[in-house]
Amino acid sequence: MLFGKGQIASITAEIPASAKILVTYGGGSIKTNGVYDQVMSAVAGRQVMEFGGIEPNPRLETLMKAVELVRNEGIDFLLAVGGGSVIDGTKFIAAAVPFTGDPWDILAKTAPVKDALPLGVVLTIPATGSEMNTFSVVTKWETKDKLAFSSPLVYPRFSVLDPETTFSLPQKQIANGIVDAFTHVMEQYLTYPAHAPLQDRMAESILKTLIEIGPKTLADPKDYDARAIFMWCATMALNGLIGVGVPQDWSTHDIGHELTALHGLDHAQTLAIVLPSTMSVRRSSKWQKLLQYAERVWGIVDGTEEERVNEAIASTRNFFESVGVRTRLSDYGIGRETIPIIVERLEKRRQVALGEQQDVNPQVVEEILQLCG
Ligand code: NZQ
Ligand code: ZN
Repeated sequence: MLFGKGQIASITAEIPASAKILVTYGGGSIKTNGVYDQVMSAVAGRQVMEFGGIEPNPRLETLMKAVELVRNEGIDFLLAVGGGSVIDGTKFIAAAVPFTGDPWDILAKTAPVKDALPLGVVLTIPATGSEMNTFSVVTKWETKDKLAFSSPLVYPRFSVLDPETTFSLPQKQIANGIVDAFTHVMEQYLTYPAHAPLQDRMAESILKTLIEIGPKTLADPKDYDARAIFMWCATMALNGLIGVGVPQDWSTHDIGHELTALHGLDHAQTLAIVLPSTMSVRRSSKWQKLLQYAERVWGIVDGTEEERVNEAIASTRNFFESVGVRTRLSDYGIGRETIPIIVERLEKRRQVALGEQQDVNPQVVEEILQLCG
């Protein structure tokens, strides 16, 4: 991790001198905020090609064009410059290039990744943690399937985290990042007690820091220190550390991905909608952790257990709303007719036993979505 102001220049030493590099990026934000120029001057004199236009929620159809380019040009190092979408897309390209057969099988049929090109990252939006993990989420636009894969072979060789690259982010994307990072912690923390007090306290620290720093970094986008703290929170939320040895949920993400695939909602918007309802519907199996979360994260100690749990859920929803991410399907003009469609799509893909206890079956998914109204 190359963290701090001006660190983009250090990538020169991280990429082999003989490498044929492909710089990948999104819709062009890096061209207007100076990041593109910094990257290009760091790789000046090297063999460099570029591939732009990777969309938010990266599409297979676009990424396959990059795969073809890499194969034709003999590119052997990928440099992703952007947010989770560009990084995830680049991880897919890295795995797809040497793959024999249809690379979509890596996601659709969990075909094993046996080889991948090396990749580096220059992160421009704190949110997903993709800069320090093995995950990638890609959408097949043709069928609107949004699926994930994971492989240690696509773990970035290095990642630059320069908080200044995020100064140009619209408020909406900062808010999204706060909600995404918060929910990543919750997916790994809000399950059941598992004799993991250290992981619990680390998770609680990230949540509390996000609650403290989120509004601050929204209020003053050029506050370097606040942005730096937020950036590190988002990385720590999904780099594997707090998830070691503990049960994990991820059903909020699984359901949320359907809302993005079907309705084009931002990833974090889907989480803000689904998480509070998940907490409510599945309260009995999460009871002990809900009480712990209420006390340690929100300082809720008064009232009956039920009152404390309700207050913790309401505090979570209010926090998301307070940073500007709405938490109801109706806020996005989505009606209840989407519910049976989502349930059916998950069933078709045999995603019928989600959550830390595999008890989030189609009926529970429906109940959760009904409450999202
Ligand atoms: O495309 P450009 O022009 O760069 O604009 C982007 C995009 O429109 C813009 N942006 C990024 N950095 C900027 C900037 N605008 C101004 N200044 C900057 N510095 O922000 C928009 C959103 O970018 P995107 O990369 O889509 O956001 P995010 O980082 O939230 O990534 C979301 C994707 O990651 C997946 C999500 O499902 C979604 O597809 N996830 C990946 C995970 C992982 N790999 O571990 C886990 C997550 O749970 C998540 O599922
Ligand atoms: Zn997420």
